[in-house]
Order: sequence, then structure tokens, then C-alpha cells
Amino acid sequence: MNQPKRHTITAALPYTNGSIHIGHLAGVYVPADIYARYLRLTGNDVLFICGSDEHGVPITIKAKAEGVSPQDIVDKYHAIIKKSFEEFGITFDNYSRTSAKIHHDTASEFFTTLNDKGEFIEETTKQLFDEEANQFLADRFVVGTCPKCGNEESYGDQCENCGTSHNATDLINPKSAITGNVPTLKQTKHWFLPLDKHEDFLKEWILKGHKRDWKPNVYGQVKSWIDDGLRPRAVTRDLDWGIPVPAKGGEGKVLYVWFDAPIGYISSTKEWAAREGKDWKPYWKDKNTKLVHFIGKDNIVFHCIIFPAMLKSEGSYILPENVPANEFLNLEGNKLSTSKNWAVWLTEYLQEFPNQQDVLRYVLTANAPETKDNDFTWKDFQARNNNELVAIFGNFINRVVVLTNKYYNGVVPEPSEFNKIDEETLAAVKAYPDVIASSIERYRFREASQELMNLARLGNKYLADEEPWKIIKVDEARTQTIMYVALQIASALATLCEPFLPFTSIKLKNILNVTSSVVETSWNDIKSKNILIPEGHQIGKAELLFSKIEDDTIQKQLDKLEASKKANQIANATVDPQKDTITFEDFTKLDMRVGTILEAEKMPKTKKLLKLKVDTGIDVRTIVSGIAESFTADEVIGKKVTVLVNLAPRALRGVESQGMILMTETLDGKLVFVNPDSSFEIKNGLSIS
Ligand code: MF3
Ligand code: ZN
Repeated sequence: MNQPKRHTITAALPYTNGSIHIGHLAGVYVPADIYARYLRLTGNDVLFICGSDEHGVPITIKAKAEGVSPQDIVDKYHAIIKKSFEEFGITFDNYSRTSAKIHHDTASEFFTTLNDKGEFIEETTKQLFDEEANQFLADRFVVGTCPKCGNEESYGDQCENCGTSHNATDLINPKSAITGNVPTLKQTKHWFLPLDKHEDFLKEWILKGHKRDWKPNVYGQVKSWIDDGLRPRAVTRDLDWGIPVPAKGGEGKVLYVWFDAPIGYISSTKEWAAREGKDWKPYWKDKNTKLVHFIGKDNIVFHCIIFPAMLKSEGSYILPENVPANEFLNLEGNKLSTSKNWAVWLTEYLQEFPNQQDVLRYVLTANAPETKDNDFTWKDFQARNNNELVAIFGNFINRVVVLTNKYYNGVVPEPSEFNKIDEETLAAVKAYPDVIASSIERYRFREASQELMNLARLGNKYLADEEPWKIIKVDEARTQTIMYVALQIASALATLCEPFLPFTSIKLKNILNVTSSVVETSWNDIKSKNILIPEGHQIGKAELLFSKIEDDTIQKQLDKLEASKKANQIANATVDPQKDTITFEDFTKLDMRVGTILEAEKMPKTKKLLKLKVDTGIDVRTIVSGIAESFTADEVIGKKVTVLVNLAPRALRGVESQGMILMTETLDGKLVFVNPDSSFEIKNGLSIS
């Protein structure tokens, strides 16, 4: 569409204290990769970069909990994340890390430049301090009530509920996340970025300049931030994990993680340029470069206000042209959560669904949380695969390839005359590159993926209407034309699906034998060329592009989630407080025996009661037990149980119960028998006391 251009595309640097899940993929990495692949296909100069965000408090907390060093934590997750992105087909030109020397140097230099230019305010203020831990409490070391929305579990730097970013001292009722203590205030010096000073520029640049082209959710959040009034933000911290503050008085302090991390985009570019023998500067300093940040909605203020203010203060950098942040993805109706293990993890998906990267890419795109939070369900995953990828895309390709092989030994036939339908169909194909491009360029990836599917639908409909399998019996020339047209659609699909279904694209190009060494079709060729795959061209054999996903595969995934839910319930179960203490003498009054249930029947017109005949070893007696909701009569016959035999008899629904069967509850609320050890035979009943 547009003239080829230089693009710098960034994807949020993931925190390196856990793996990647579908929320990250849908929100950031899949759309960013579609965008980068599309721009490369259309002849642009594209640099797509990312890396690990390895500083920040959560990493030190995790390290402490596991008894290892923060470096051990980031080394472990950096390797896992990098590998899983590669396997998933995310085509970063470079994946760096913020613990790398090049990043420490770049971030230090950036800070020094701003410091030398007088762009910071140095101030000694009172900050939250934990006396017991002997430590200042910044960011995730402190929780309290959010001054904006009232969420009682806001962190020191950001509230996860409303997305507001604030200073730790703004929290109401702050508490140390280390000891639980109420913090005191202690004097300490920090460097502040005076955001208020940049208010006019931000208003002009975003509120005026990007009202129309930025997504409403992004624009709205930024506007509300600016409308609330901007204040200076500390960009240094009293911590020992991070990049040391390179200034006098900065000993024992590090840069705030949100100051250093976005500079990671620049260091990653430098690392790439050094490796490739290129110049990094045009990608960050040339006004003709289009800079786009892909992020999730919790990152908006950092990428739209703080980082641009930093770049502006430095003076020689370009600013982002767009920040197409997504909303959040939920899973089966609940918020994704690492701590609750409520997630679909990329590493597990890759293992459990080998060679099915494109299915997940497609589902996450077709259902992306672009304008509002959205829900991922396994049923939807199955339906999109079976009803769209298999039944539409895969089915069309399969019919074309199978019939071409059957009728023409795999050689593209020579068409005779095109009728009106053929011409309309070929013209419709020519329009698709621009239709899909237009959606992608407006960051509407869901829409784009549906347009791609519409092209496959067009192919399917064409075959269904023209019925070559019937026509072959009466008109060979017409059949050749139909198959020729269908092959042109298949060829267009092979190229146009690449940003969305890259593994499928390769497979399909191999089947059609249209890889670069033979006859490759570019995105723009489809718009202008009349022939994409010429007559006489030999294609390969059919191979299934997608396969049906069965119910039991989906059930396995649902069972896994159910297990997470159970584990959480147990972890969070509230246990009844212990009853009043009894004396040993009280206890010895209980006469407990091992008995065997001989007969059992449900008491009529009751929900809970079973009438049991129990052999207690001393006699056989009737006991009424309230266990019918957990056990059927048949289940309990023959069971060895513990019986309290000297409980005063009492009448239940007209039946005298002479004792009690001892039961207890497991943590997840299941009723179980207090079972005498069944490994040794107890013949005659045994008194426990
Ligand atoms: N690590 C952050 C997160 O996962 C994102 C950092 S983006 C960067 O939310 F710009 F700071 F790099
Ligand atoms: Zn809040």
C-alpha cells in the first residue's frame, strides 16, 4: 500500500521470572509478529526486537524464595523464554537481555546524558522503610490501598486493578511485602524525572497529534493520565539488583526497572547491528523511521508518557508513531494468573501440540483482545481449528491438490476461456492483499485473519459451485479452467497466510512447489499478476495442513485446569478453628471399636440418612448415619469403620441409632471414613482407649 519504509518494531520485554503464556502471546507477541512478517513481505526494511526484562523487585523476591541468586533466576527463564519464542515462530531480529553489558552501558549512558543536561530533579525525600528488614520499600516490596480505585492490593509503583502508576508514598495503609510491618519513613536521595515539565509537549504530541490514529483504549488511558496532572517520578531506587546509578551520591542505588527496561529496545538494536555489521542509529534517530511499540494495556503509561518523556529529554531520538496496546485475555472465564497456575503455558503447548503452532496463533488472533478483554476457551480453540482451519482452509487446499494430481498428474492445466464467474473470482483474489494489508496497518489483526479466511471461503465456494468432479465427465476443457483458477487461489493463500500461519505457509508452498527457488509469489504480485502459478508447473502431493482436534484432547486440557483450581482451593481452604481443649479423662470416656458394616439402606424420605447394621465385635446393632450424600448404600456394605459404641442412643426419624460411625473431612471438603488400618485383620473389634 504505502511506500517501503524503515520500521522499528518493539515487543514488550517480558519479565524473566516466569514463562510465557497465552495472555502474553495474544496481547503482544502474535500481533507484533504478524505486523513484522507482513511488513517484510511487502518489501519494507524491518527491525523487530525484543529481549528479557531482567531487573525489578519480583525477580529478587523469587530468588530469595528459591534460595538462589537473581542472576540464576534470569538465566533460567531467559533461556526458556527465548527458546519457546523461537519454536513458536516469533521472528525477532534480535532477542537480547537487560543484564547484558551492552544494556548496562547504554542505560548508564542514557541516564548520564539526562543528568548532565539537567533533565532530572535530585531530591532527598522521605521514603517507605522497613526497620526489621532494614530496607527501603519500593515497587513490589510494598502493598497498600490504591489512591485512585481503592484496590487494597496495589503495589508501590502500579495498581494492577486500574493500571495507575503512582509513587509508593501515595499508597493508603502501606504494608511491607517482606515482613508485613507498617513501614516508617526515612530520608533518602533520588533522581526524579519531572513529567510535569513535559505536559505541554505530551498534550500536543498525543492529545492533538494522535487522537485519530491511536486506539481508543490507549488514547483514553493517556488522556486521563494527563488530565489528572503529571508529577515528577523517581527513576532511581534503593535496591541492590539493577543497574547502578552512575552519578555522585548514587552509591547503593540502582535505576528504576521501568527506566532501564525500555532502553533495552535500544541496546537490543545495538547488539543486532554489531552482529549484522549495520548501523543502529537510523532505526532510532532517523525521522523517516516508523517506531511502533507492541505492549499489553498495563504498560501504556510507561510507553506513552514516561519513555517518550525520556526520549524527548535526551533529544536525539524519534518517538513512537503508534502504541497499539491490547486489552487482557482471560482463560475459561477467569483472569490469567501465574501464581494460581491459571494459564496455558507456551512451553507446555509446544510439547502437547507438536507442530500445531499455527492453530494457537490463529485462535489467539481471531479472538484477540483488541478492543476489550476477551476469553480463551478450549472449546473455542477446538471449534476454530475444526470448523475454520480444517473445514475451510485445509479442505480447499486438499481438494485442489488431490484433484490436480488425479486429473493431471500434478501439472497445472492450461485454461480455456474464462467465464464471468472465473473473472470475478480472479478479480476478487487480486483485491485481497490490499484488504488484508489495510486491516493490518490499522492494527486490526482479528479482522485481517478473518479476511484471510474469507479468501479460503471464496476458494471453497468456487469449487462447490463449479463442481469440477462432475464437469470432468462432460467437459474436459472447462474442468481445466476451473482447476487452473482454483490453483491461483491456492497460490495466493500460500503467500497471504504467511503472517498469520507461517508454518502452514511453508508447508503449502512446498506442496505447490512454489518455494523461492522455483516460482515465488510476493504479496504485491497477487495484486498485479494475472498468473501466480503457471500452466505446466508441477505441484507436489497432497498433505494435510491441519487435523481435527478430538474431544478427548480438549478434555485433557480442561482436566488440567480443573486440577489447578482444586490445588488452589486446597491452598486457600479456610480450616475451622480448633475446638476447646478436652482433658485426657474426657477422652478416655469414649469407647471406640472397629466394626464392619453388614447391611445398609437409604432411609425413606430423607436426603442424608443411611440405616446401617454394624458388627461392633461386641454385638450387631443399628446405627443411623448422615452420609447418604457422599456414599450409596451398596458402596458401604462390607466396609471396616470406627464406631463410637457408648454414645447415648437417640431416635432419628423414628429409628433408634445406637452409636456413631466416625467420619472426617479432607481439605477439599470430601467426607471420608476414619478407616482402621486394613493391612492387618481385626477380627473381634478393638477398643482404642
Ligand atoms: N517487563 C514488562 C512487563 O512484562 C514490560 C517491559 S517493556 C519495556 O510488563 F519497555 F520496559 F521494555
Ligand atoms: Zn487502582
